[in-house]
Amino acid sequence: MSTKSLVFLGLISTAFGLATSTSHSNLPSCRALPGDAAWPKSHEWAKLNKTINGNLIATIPEASVCHESSFGTFDSSACAQLKTTWDVALPSHISAPGDVLSQYFQNYTCVPFTNVSQNCELGNFPNYVVNVTGVNDVRGAIAFAKKYNIRIVIKNTGHDPPGEAACPSGHTISSPPSTSLPTAPPYYKGPAAKLGAGIEGWEAYGLANSTGHRMVGGTCPTVGVVGGYTQGGGHSILSSSYGTSADNVLEWEVVTVDGQHLIATPNQNSDLYWALSGGGGGTFAVVLSMTARLHTDSIVGGTLLSFNDSIVGNAAYWEAVGVFHALLPDFLDGGNSFTYSVEKNSLSAYGTMPGANLTEVNRLLKPFLADLAHRNITPYNTPQVSPNYYTHFYTYLGPAPYGYDAFYPFTNSRIIPRSLVANSTTNAVVTDLFRNITLVEAFSPFYCDSFTVATQSHPDNSLHLAWRDGMLLCAPAGSWDWNATPEEMTARDEYAAKTLQPMMDKATPGGMVYLNEANHLYADWKESFYGNKYERLLSVKNKYDPQQLLYVKTGVGSDRWDEDGNGRLCRV
Ligand SMILES: Cc1cc2nc3c(=O)[nH]c(=O)nc-3n(C[C@H](O)[C@H](O)[C@H](O)COP(=O)(O)OP(=O)(O)OC[C@H]3O[C@@H](n4cnc5c(N)ncnc54)[C@H](O)[C@@H]3O)c2cc1C
Ligand SMILES: *[C@@H]1O[C@H](CO)[C@@H](O)[C@H](O)[C@H]1NC(C)=O
Ligand SMILES: *[C@@H]1O[C@H](CO)[C@@H](O)[C@H](O)[C@H]1NC(C)=O
Ligand SMILES: *[C@@H]1O[C@H](CO)[C@@H](O)[C@H](O)[C@H]1NC(C)=O
Ligand SMILES: *[C@@H]1O[C@H](CO)[C@@H](O)[C@H](O)[C@H]1NC(C)=O
Ligand SMILES: *[C@@H]1O[C@H](CO)[C@@H](O)[C@H](O)[C@H]1NC(C)=O
Ligand SMILES: *[C@@H]1O[C@H](CO)[C@@H](O)[C@H](O)[C@H]1NC(C)=O
Ligand SMILES: *[C@@H]1O[C@H](CO)[C@@H](O)[C@H](O)[C@H]1NC(C)=O
Ligand SMILES: *[C@@H]1O[C@H](CO)[C@@H](O)[C@H](O)[C@H]1NC(C)=O
Ligand SMILES: *[C@@H]1O[C@H](CO)[C@@H](O)[C@H](O)[C@H]1NC(C)=O
Repeated sequence: MSTKSLVFLGLISTAFGLATSTSHSNLPSCRALPGDAAWPKSHEWAKLNKTINGNLIATIPEASVCHESSFGTFDSSACAQLKTTWDVALPSHISAPGDVLSQYFQNYTCVPFTNVSQNCELGNFPNYVVNVTGVNDVRGAIAFAKKYNIRIVIKNTGHDPPGEAACPSGHTISSPPSTSLPTAPPYYKGPAAKLGAGIEGWEAYGLANSTGHRMVGGTCPTVGVVGGYTQGGGHSILSSSYGTSADNVLEWEVVTVDGQHLIATPNQNSDLYWALSGGGGGTFAVVLSMTARLHTDSIVGGTLLSFNDSIVGNAAYWEAVGVFHALLPDFLDGGNSFTYSVEKNSLSAYGTMPGANLTEVNRLLKPFLADLAHRNITPYNTPQVSPNYYTHFYTYLGPAPYGYDAFYPFTNSRIIPRSLVANSTTNAVVTDLFRNITLVEAFSPFYCDSFTVATQSHPDNSLHLAWRDGMLLCAPAGSWDWNATPEEMTARDEYAAKTLQPMMDKATPGGMVYLNEANHLYADWKESFYGNKYERLLSVKNKYDPQQLLYVKTGVGSDRWDEDGNGRLCRV
């Protein structure tokens, strides 16, 4: 299936910052900002707009409807509506070209919750966005950024937690997929789909379903499939069956920063294929599409399983949580998964059991139920079978099509090794970690996806090796409070990065941090995000982007840049 891809590339940086850059080498040491002498004049922007067929957009933040500002778009009823969806990953928000979801990086410069008389400013949003409709727009945008030494960022849905697409950004939106039937590259015999860069999960799931297939994608159906999600790894409720999303990629279609339009597969430009499959988005090239494996659909068993400490007391509840974890490896090995949230006195999970009929669902759940019964815990359990994956997905992650996923801004997380959970001594430490995290009210519940991606076949790729021994990806949920002061929110962000993250890291040696669900302040990112793949990733980066045009914070090679408070990037 081929789809039109619509990518936005954001050019530039913040609106403030007036200093001129000084150059100490033949490469400019700092990127230009508005107000600099080097900054393009409006007729130069107009010229760019011509070369890219009118696809240049001057950013108007979505929340400009909430402010009496120079944008002239104030609209109190639109603002009231926007407030209800602002902290939720819904497409109304995602399709605004310059916006990002991270409240931390929104930085109060133009949000619905500040005083109507406060001027709406761009802050961390880009001044201009290129709405990419094809190769020519990417080439035009890149050539312009090079010529004027402007910071450029690729942006898709803007879901990324603080740091990646948050700053001067571009954007990708999705188009309704135009389909021709499954297209696989010649080297692959099974069913496959070619997805344009802007495709979101819900579109991909619908597309796969319409041909009797299912595919790996995120739990939030508005996460972009092709952008940061797959390029950073991509875990799914189907991962125990099919691996990570990066494991499923057959082919990448890209435009490199020197303007080449390339196909990367395990056999062709294989270094680029390898790096794009797990090495992080926004770093190596602009992706236009990806071709990924589809999987034959069938029934999917499910259940909502929850239990709490109401009868047994807190100590017995935590023992039950430890055993729940200890029972997971066998369950996962069958291709199944649980996604769950843990609070200080309750655990609530939904199960995904591809191919399981009701008899099979009950058989798979039996060890869990037997243990709870043995402890006199009466769980809530609703085994059932959906006719296809699409129906299963929206039974637990609906409503269709966009879901209703709150966006937690203080992202931090840990991939916890299976070996720790399987050993009773270290299992007790993991349980203690869960207890500690859930006692911090502002960050409860602790959300986990469980998976095993150890044995499924996949091409060689750049995923950190700790994925293969990983079993739980857990993230404390910290929500943004618009009534609190900005200082309080900054303190919470630092607490997530400097207290909770080290606590998770210390309790789970041999684990790793998933670059797509990490805090922007994370210090040990090279080792924890990339492990022993870093050096090779850096050499691919140097080959395809020798001038380091593409920068994302904590991306491969990003330590060669420093960013000041105005968004100015300078070479270190
Ligand atoms: C509510 C929610 C639920 C989530 N659930 C899951 C989950 O179940 N599993 C999981 O693995 N992750 C999950 N994530 C994390 C998600 O994978 C990351 O946020 C991911 O970076 C989003 O990618 P994006 O392209 O949609 O977003 P963006 O923020 O637009 O982009 C992210 C990064 O990718 C780069 N990029 C985007 N498009 C391109 C392109 N075309 N070419 C090159 N680089 C590009 C950007 O420069 C940026 O660095 C979730 C996030 C949220 C907010
Ligand atoms: C680019 O050109 C199109 C078509 O002429 C126009 O609608 C758009 O406003 C222009 N963009 C900018 C930033 O001027
Ligand atoms: C909003 O700002 C105006 C002008 O500065 C001020 O008079 C008003 O009290 C403020 N409103 C609130 C709710 O803070
Ligand atoms: C981007 O371009 C596409 C195709 O021309 C168009 O449908 C879409 O509305 C544009 N997006 C914006 C935000 O202008
Ligand atoms: C999913 O596919 C099934 C089987 O082809 C079909 O009956 C159903 O209508 C599809 N669901 C959606 C939402 O398209
Ligand atoms: C349910 O699935 C099991 C395992 O695949 C199979 O042996 C059994 O016959 C199925 N039962 C029914 C009623 O289809
Ligand atoms: C605790 O579990 C019991 C038994 O399943 C249930 O009736 C009760 O509603 C649960 N309480 C909470 C707070 O979930
Ligand atoms: C379990 O883990 C502990 C602590 O790391 C270790 O000392 C012990 O040898 C492990 N047990 C087994 C059976 O691996
Ligand atoms: C949990 O918190 C207690 C008390 O602060 C501490 O002693 C213990 O080491 C912590 N355990 C883990 C696994 O973080
Ligand atoms: C937010 O804005 C303040 C200035 O008001 C600045 O000091 C700070 O660095 C900004 N934070 C981010 C994350 O952009």
